[in-house]
Amino acid sequence: MSAELKAGAAEAEQRLSAATDLDEVRAIDADVLGKKSALTAAKKQLGGLEPEDRKAAGMAINEIRQRLEAAVAAANDRLAADARAAQYEAECLDLSEKLSEIRRGSLHLTTQARDRLEDVFVGMGFTIAEGPEVETAWYNFEALNIPEWHPARGSFDTIFVDLGEPEEVMLRSHTSPVQIRTMENTEPPIYIVAPGRTFRTDTADATHLPAFNQIEGLVVDRGIGLGDLAGTIDEFVKSFFGGEVKTRLRPSYFPFTEPSAEFDISRPDGSWLELGGCGVVHPNVLANCGIDPEEWQGFAFGFGIDRLAAMRYQLDDIRELVNSDVRFLRQF
Ligand code: DAH
Repeated sequence: MSAELKAGAAEAEQRLSAATDLDEVRAIDADVLGKKSALTAAKKQLGGLEPEDRKAAGMAINEIRQRLEAAVAAANDRLAADARAAQYEAECLDLSEKLSEIRRGSLHLTTQARDRLEDVFVGMGFTIAEGPEVETAWYNFEALNIPEWHPARGSFDTIFVDLGEPEEVMLRSHTSPVQIRTMENTEPPIYIVAPGRTFRTDTADATHLPAFNQIEGLVVDRGIGLGDLAGTIDEFVKSFFGGEVKTRLRPSYFPFTEPSAEFDISRPDGSWLELGGCGVVHPNVLANCGIDPEEWQGFAFGFGIDRLAAMRYQLDDIRELVNSDVRFLRQF
């Protein structure tokens, strides 16, 4: 019996050292050490042997059992180490390989549109002006001929900043306050554009963002009139979009200009898209900044940069501009 068991154990050891996965080891383990194994059967027969034989056979069985248990443990260890090595291999990050895949980034679409607008206006003789994003009521409204009682004040959906003085400090709701800051600090003639971020209580949807970008234009010089305004808008639209796009002015109302207009640009299908507001600077606004309206005249305009970018790149939803989805951004 012992010789047979030894031969079986030797064969099992060979199978264990050749095993290629842990399931196989488990199956061999059950085969040679389990309840139905020859070893267990031999152990059960011990009771029927003479005491002398029983001792020798018992020791032989135990020895074989220990050999097999050690062989199973060794096979388990070997295969677990192999599995770990394979996992490391599979999950290893080859950084040298990634480096060669790095893509060059690009400026955000809105920044590109803003840069291009600045280029176009600088090419027409304008300089770039800037102002703060947090404003007082004087700059955002009052100096622009929008006193506290004025109904237009409500239409700006202003976001106020609570510094303990309600309604005095706000996130600017348009770039027009930069007109005031420029006129306060600069002697005419003035030819500036002021791009920048603006804020309103709007809920984001396909055509609105609560934080958006505008560009303001202001000219103050002698003998300036509506014709100069119309010519400037037409010129800038042609350089920004290329020759095919037409412009038109529609009478409108803004407290800071008189007369006031809205300006539209033509879409490829012949329909019109409203782009912004404009007009001849109101004499009160010039006077508020210490400029004599008898001597100087001006025109101003303002429009949304995000909408302009959306039109130029045919975006269906303006929120794409703030979603930070690289799959979208990489296209530009
Ligand atoms: N500030 C206006 C707005 O946000 C746009 C605007 C209209 C600006 C007429 C101007 C202007 O400079 O003359 O709705």
